Amino acid sequence: MILDQFRLTGQVALVTGSGQSIGEDIALALAEAGADVVVAARTQAAIDDTAAKVRERGRDALAVRCDVMESDQLEELVAATVGRFGRLDVLVNNAGGSFPKPALEMSERAFEKVVRFNLTSPFLLTRLAVPHMVQTAGRGVVVNISSGASQQAVGGMVAYGAAKAGLNQMTRILAREFAPKVRVNAVVVGQILTDGARSVLSEDMLDQAAHAIPLGRLGDVRDIAACTLFLASPASAWITGRVFEVDGGADAAPLEFPIPAL
Ligand SMILES: NC(=O)c1ccc[n+]([C@@H]2O[C@H](COP(=O)([O-])OP(=O)(O)OC[C@H]3O[C@@H](n4cnc5c(N)ncnc54)[C@H](OP(=O)(O)O)[C@@H]3O)[C@@H](O)[C@H]2O)c1
Repeated sequence: MILDQFRLTGQVALVTGSGQSIGEDIALALAEAGADVVVAARTQAAIDDTAAKVRERGRDALAVRCDVMESDQLEELVAATVGRFGRLDVLVNNAGGSFPKPALEMSERAFEKVVRFNLTSPFLLTRLAVPHMVQTAGRGVVVNISSGASQQAVGGMVAYGAAKAGLNQMTRILAREFAPKVRVNAVVVGQILTDGARSVLSEDMLDQAAHAIPLGRLGDVRDIAACTLFLASPASAWITGRVFEVDGGADAAPLEFPIPAL
């Protein structure tokens, strides 16, 4: 049955930034597909909440406090995963993001922090996780959560767009290095209607963004979770090194940030 190929029965998945929004929904989708899930972020109450929702879906969960900016905490995260479940099948590098900042106002430190968050940390965690996948499960899957800003020139997003473009290319290169045992793919995320977007953007801006998207609405976290599940599951067994755009068909950024004229 084709639907069986979307199942993750008996597998263990690790999702960074899974205390809320997209990461939380990815964790729940993977649990609904049969995986036990390691839920990682910095806020204990949030990861405990996601872990409880995983258990409500009949799967086991481990909540691990982890700041992905800290290499030693990434090591502890992988060690905790393998220590608890004895295997690792799926890694979703979801933690990431950035606030808009005009290039001329961005400090060197702020630029490097955004690159570390969106590119270096997924690299370091992938490098730590992959040998354990091969040793414990014999194979594995990595899904990197990227952004439309990696492909569209969005003013105010110089560090973020460049870092996510780097993440796309890292996806292709690591896929080549790790084939055939470990597949690596990315999801380029369009504008999603998260609680964060609702709190920062006015109704007018949200309406404007929806009109700029061919499918006529902002994305829902489920739209991203569904593609991530496809890429994590055997249904995508012949796909690696690819970048999937889940964005309602938007060829241009649906939102622009005001940038002062030179
Ligand atoms: N939302 C969108 O429309 C959109 C569009 C394009 C791409 N994306 C991408 O989708 C991914 C998720 O975005 P989102 O909007 O769902 O993010 P979000 O609502 O800001 O949630 C981020 C999650 O990551 C965790 N996190 C933040 N800093 C962390 C750190 N240093 N270490 C570990 N965890 C950390 C947060 O929890 P704590 O603060 O407790 O750690 C939270 O659980 C990101 O990679 C983002 O670039 C999102």
